[in-house]
Amino acid sequence: MHRVVCPGSFDPVTNGHLDIIGRASRLYDEVVVAVLMNVSKKSLFAVDERIDMLREVTKQYGNVSIEKFHGLLVDFCKARGIPMIVKGLRAVSDFDYELQMAQMNHSLAEIETTFMATNPLYSFLSSSLVKEIAGYGGDVSGLVPELVRDRLTERLAEVRPDR
Ligand code: PNS
Repeated sequence: MHRVVCPGSFDPVTNGHLDIIGRASRLYDEVVVAVLMNVSKKSLFAVDERIDMLREVTKQYGNVSIEKFHGLLVDFCKARGIPMIVKGLRAVSDFDYELQMAQMNHSLAEIETTFMATNPLYSFLSSSLVKEIAGYGGDVSGLVPELVRDRLTERLAEVRPDR
């Protein structure tokens, strides 16, 4: 039984994240998407809202589940007996930090990391840029699932009612 964790902030989930989750779900028996509850980082969506969107947009995959976590990712993995993390690599600029985290996670708890090359369609995509574009009224269709686009529009209208 091959189980892996796809970790992230997912604030909000993008089509790039979904591509990695979907591909992992075809390669492994079980994929646990671990959503970081980061108290020090201000997020646009509360962790339960991020989870709700992830559940909705991954419901076609029978072997994907969504959980939240705080603290060290390796502790989350160890507590569930999951030996491997799967992450997407968009560009060389991702590599230095991702390599450092992979090596640290291995050194801390012998948790392995596998990198998947991001689909070039999404290599320029990040949750931060999606929020910025949507914040200025730009069209994020094609970058995020429709449900996420609609939730972004609603949320931005609440936080920036002058727009
Ligand atoms: O989507 P993100 O914000 O790039 O995801 C980063 C994440 C959640 C994978 C990373 O910050 C993480 O693993 N945080 C948990 C705390 C931890 O384990 N830190 C040590 C990393 S070596």
